[in-house]
Amino acid sequence: MRIISGPASKALAEAVSVQSDIPNVQIISKIFPDGEVYVRLDGDIKGEKVSIIQTTCPPMQDNNLLQLAFLADAAKRAGAIKVTAIVPYLAYARQDKMFLAGEGISVETIMRMLKSAGIDELLTVNIHSEHSLTQFPFPAKSISAIPLIADYFVKKGHKGAYALAPDKGAMYIAQQAQTVLSGKAGHLTKTRDRYTGQIIQTAEGLNVEGQTVIILDDIISTGGTIVGAAKILREQGASHVFCGCVHGLLIGDAKQRILEAGVEEIVSTDSVPGVTSKVLLTPLISQALKGAV
Ligand code: R5P
Repeated sequence: MRIISGPASKALAEAVSVQSDIPNVQIISKIFPDGEVYVRLDGDIKGEKVSIIQTTCPPMQDNNLLQLAFLADAAKRAGAIKVTAIVPYLAYARQDKMFLAGEGISVETIMRMLKSAGIDELLTVNIHSEHSLTQFPFPAKSISAIPLIADYFVKKGHKGAYALAPDKGAMYIAQQAQTVLSGKAGHLTKTRDRYTGQIIQTAEGLNVEGQTVIILDDIISTGGTIVGAAKILREQGASHVFCGCVHGLLIGDAKQRILEAGVEEIVSTDSVPGVTSKVLLTPLISQALKGAV
């Protein structure tokens, strides 16, 4: 078996290679003057099973996806017998259904492209909707980094904190965190206008007065969801508010707006490398590599 370090996840791939004791194949990559991407494998993989570790986060998600596809094609042409894509953040996973008439299902289109490029199976982390995996044209699995994030907060002294999901759909995330935090768990209610993107959040039956609350979500994008939740928690008299997410996209001034809303710390994983990536996915992915998808 070999690990191929995708350009978008070089540090993570190298750490996984060391931890799992699987040799790492280096690659050469560049972007041509016209913006097109180029990759070349720099190692022998003939007859090997390979795992390409490549996140597909913004701001270059389309380039990252193409590099992943080109690496899969190169691996198969170089004689790899099986190609697994390990994609910590899977771009386009939120367009997993036709919300409005006339739309397509972007994540399914991407998966068909990846299959034709040579990918045989896919492993990702906290995909937005597990249901979408069933529509992929190859075996696919999502593993959860939430226990690692909750453990980060326990190590910082917040055992017993309230785990709050910003909407009902993320309640499973709060429940996973609750098993590590050993406190209570609950959720807000969120509705989003599909045309304007505007969200409305409410907190029916929530009582967090005097408590430390950790808001947990799969993704922070613009930060609007967390800002709205933090405001509600402050109004309710929470004593401390933190937030943890798997994929900290933190577009534009999202980080600043979240901190200004009273969140004391933002914690995310290195599925999207950045200043809030305090939880490393190395142990989770190394462990997953030991089992088949
Ligand atoms: C949506 O349902 C997701 O789970 C996140 O809550 C959402 O993507 C966060 O987006 P934003 O940070 O822009 O509010």
